[in-house]
Amino acid sequence: MKDTIRITKTQKSRLSEVDFDNIPFGRVFSDHMFVADYKDGEWQDPRIVPFGHFEIHPAAMALHYGQAIFEGMKASKSNDGTPLFLRPEMHAKRINQSARRMCMPDFPEGLFLEALHELVGLDRDWIPPKEGSALYIRPYMFANDEFIGVKPSQTYRFIIFTGPVGPYYPKPVSLIADTHYVRAAVKGGTGAAKVAGNYAASLLPAKLANEKGYDQVMWLDSIEFKYIQEVGTMNIFFVIDGKVVTPALNGGILPGITRDTALHILPEHGYEVEERPITIDEVVEAYQAGQLQEVFGTGTAAVVAHVSKLAYKDIVMDLPPMEERQVGQLIKTQIDGMRSGRIEDKHGWIEPVKAAVKA
Ligand code: COI
Repeated sequence: MKDTIRITKTQKSRLSEVDFDNIPFGRVFSDHMFVADYKDGEWQDPRIVPFGHFEIHPAAMALHYGQAIFEGMKASKSNDGTPLFLRPEMHAKRINQSARRMCMPDFPEGLFLEALHELVGLDRDWIPPKEGSALYIRPYMFANDEFIGVKPSQTYRFIIFTGPVGPYYPKPVSLIADTHYVRAAVKGGTGAAKVAGNYAASLLPAKLANEKGYDQVMWLDSIEFKYIQEVGTMNIFFVIDGKVVTPALNGGILPGITRDTALHILPEHGYEVEERPITIDEVVEAYQAGQLQEVFGTGTAAVVAHVSKLAYKDIVMDLPPMEERQVGQLIKTQIDGMRSGRIEDKHGWIEPVKAAVKA
């Protein structure tokens, strides 16, 4: 890595066009983006430039062979207006775990963090002030060789762009367990990496679930269709007879950072938590015995998404009303509270934005 980050500011901010009270998720983009290119065996020319289109060769390898990875993270503002990140170093590490699985070069963790601080510092006024809203951050990397033939690319582009967002799921979601398609193979596949192809593979099953009247798919294991993996684009938690259970990471499940945060928070509030294999039959039995108290998903975009209904074959499980969702609500309140500064950050998870260049 030769250079420091070069910054070119936009001539005309688009910020005044944004209505912070009405932000559609994923459709509004901030003024700047970070870009770096990998060639000759190293990352080169890290730069922040005005957000905009760029050219790509029709034979760029990511477009046909799918060598592409990404992260999802957020910046928010505390009640006193300080822009901050939650556990940014976890994302710097996870993108490299994804890179290794996809035979891509590591992106230096120090540069990842510096780029975040500079970019979000420059576009700090794009962070929506309301609790529960945030500046969504999308780091990603793709294979950029102009080539036909299956081999690892020699050139890559790394980008970080951001955009203000409101809640990903404004209301509880309904789920159907898929007994035909899987998100990723449990053994030897790409399920533990945040790779573009995993999301592409989820689209048809999600469309079929929507046609049956459900919001999202609950994924089962690829061998026996018995062990619960994840839900939609989130990790999943069950509250059964007062105990919190989430599927253990098995190589097929994304190691979610919000999942990890929840696993720290819950025992501190007196909850017994189990990370272990959990079958759909166990969930059905708990429901039939009146012991299934909560089901919720965790993820960066959603934070916590409560589940209103869960279907498996011809069994439809209606879950208790929102007022009774103490566990999911606790996680959300703690995360939102640390971000706003209302709740003390005992873990050192909150990192204020330190940008060298002022907006
Ligand atoms: C996230 O939770 O941030 C993700 O990357 C999932 C995506 C569907 C928004």
